[in-house]
Amino acid sequence: MNKLKVEDIIKKKGFEKITSLTAYDYITAKILDEAGIDIVLVGDSLSNVIQGNRTTIPVSMDEMLYHCKIVSNAIKRSLVIGDMPFMSYQISLKDGIRNAMRFLKEGNCDGVKIEGGYEILELVNKLTVYGVPVMGHIGLMPQRVNLYGYNLAKDEELVNIAKKLEEAGVFSIVLEKVEYKLAKKITESINIPTIGIASGPYCDGQVLVFHDMVGLTQTKFKFVRKYLNAYELFTNAVKNYIQDVKLGNFPSLEESYEG
Ligand code: KIV
Repeated sequence: MNKLKVEDIIKKKGFEKITSLTAYDYITAKILDEAGIDIVLVGDSLSNVIQGNRTTIPVSMDEMLYHCKIVSNAIKRSLVIGDMPFMSYQISLKDGIRNAMRFLKEGNCDGVKIEGGYEILELVNKLTVYGVPVMGHIGLMPQRVNLYGYNLAKDEELVNIAKKLEEAGVFSIVLEKVEYKLAKKITESINIPTIGIASGPYCDGQVLVFHDMVGLTQTKFKFVRKYLNAYELFTNAVKNYIQDVKLGNFPSLEESYEG
């Protein structure tokens, strides 16, 4: 099984849809990798999903790197992308370069994802020159919700922004909550793949938060298809365990060691 490279992802555009899910831990990453997911995203959504925060803003660089490391330990084939958290690239170009490189050096990632438009072009360009693959992220940018909210992105300017990001060197762009006809237009305007979330079927690939997709989180977003009700399954398993222990049904002698 060959490890996917950035060029393999780019080549899929127009031929094969690209699949991506988030993972924040070893076992989930192993499941995704073995199932054949193309891109494992260690998203800053771990701030919500793993840490229980209201937004993605609190998660730190060190916490992101910890999760990237344990995810990377499981990966044989997928491309692993680390999400640059709030405050890791906005303060200075130098900070942005250093932190992006830490994702490769310490987090064992294959590349980074950065939310932003024109304001990150210089950073993308520098990182690309130094060999750090960058995935863009436009439309709804969760790190900016305090000012811009969770609204649907409809601004035609996104087409230009996507073109500029491509020129600066990104190898793909996440489109989050972009009106689906606009997402189609962006996808058709650039030569690199778009990976959509809540942006309709015309993107070159799709990404979801794993915990939403398997029903571990109890969110009810229209764009999430739940393939499992894991929250209920896990809860029932725990209740059955509690009952078995209390009734003395677990462990049985077959589950016990004899000297
Ligand atoms: O942090 C994240 O999980 C993301 C995606 C879902 C695109 O940015």
